[in-house]
Amino acid sequence: MDRADLDFAHLPFAYHKTDANVRVFFREGAWSAPEVTSEEYLTLHMASVCFHYGQAIFEGLKAYERPDGRVQTFRARENARRMRHSAEKLLMEPVPEEVFLDAVQRVVQANRRFVPPHASGASLYIRPFEIGVSAEVGVKPSIDYLFMVFATPVGPYYKAGFTPVRLLVQEEIDRAAPGGVGDTKAAGNYAASLRATVAAKKQGYSEVLYLDAREKRYIDESGSSNFFAVRDRTFITPASPSILRSITNASVRRLALDMGLSVEERPVAVEELASFEEAGALGTAAIITPVEAITYGEQEFVYAKDGQAGPITTALYERLTAIQTGEAEDPYGWCEVVPD
Ligand code: PLP
Ligand code: COI
Repeated sequence: MDRADLDFAHLPFAYHKTDANVRVFFREGAWSAPEVTSEEYLTLHMASVCFHYGQAIFEGLKAYERPDGRVQTFRARENARRMRHSAEKLLMEPVPEEVFLDAVQRVVQANRRFVPPHASGASLYIRPFEIGVSAEVGVKPSIDYLFMVFATPVGPYYKAGFTPVRLLVQEEIDRAAPGGVGDTKAAGNYAASLRATVAAKKQGYSEVLYLDAREKRYIDESGSSNFFAVRDRTFITPASPSILRSITNASVRRLALDMGLSVEERPVAVEELASFEEAGALGTAAIITPVEAITYGEQEFVYAKDGQAGPITTALYERLTAIQTGEAEDPYGWCEVVPD
């Protein structure tokens, strides 16, 4: 393999053109055979439902080069299942799991030279998405759909990698409401979070921490990741109807139990911020990002001093990334080797 000529150790989390993407169409009631193409652009009808009424959902997962040079994806089937959940909630045609997994495999194979080298700290980020493409002006579900997968090599989501970031609790702007679609990867959820995120970044924070929209009493999540905290050897993470069910979070909860920690998935009152010893963000892009401090109104709570992540956050990060990169055994069968 002739690896792409990139500075893999210093990649940003950004789009970089790769060799191929995969397209599958749902037309006349059936999914087409997958098309592998190098074309980056799409020709769509201007009245496509995705543009006007937001039938657009996506997923995010990663592929890693293992020490033996083979490539593995992490929990791709869970992404396939979650995309089905998103589709069902937005009345879109669910992509069959096997169609999803086949397209993911094809995109990795076609972009093998862009998979970052083992231990470079980078990975191949895989972005499946589905959009409603029927021309409509009435508000109704699309009949036809396009499911696509592209891939791009990425470095850390937060510039400094495994270095603590600062979060701002947002009380004025809601990302999602309990009866809404916050538990889906609907594109509109991310549009809804932009205003708060851009404002927080201007004030020097990396991300926003949203509260539940109904009472503003409980911690929900960030715009791009779940939230966790540690207290008395207990891993605590919010349960809420308006957050995305993070695959990283589910994996880390399992690893936390294996490490002898207690795990609590429950409503987390914002007052508890004062009592946490460590805090962090969880997600495919964020992996585990330690939180340095959280600002809530006039108060600032500090969880990582001198840029040092806490011991439990560090141990969980090392365990998770060792499994993802193939350094450690994979006791739960989370990783799947992509055939060459
Ligand atoms: N929450 C939101 C809003 C996200 O966009 C993501 C990213 O996918 C996550 C949480 C983390 O989910 P996962 O760990 O499955 O990537
Ligand atoms: C992911 O972690 O895969 C995400 O989708 C988060 C983000 C880049 C929006």
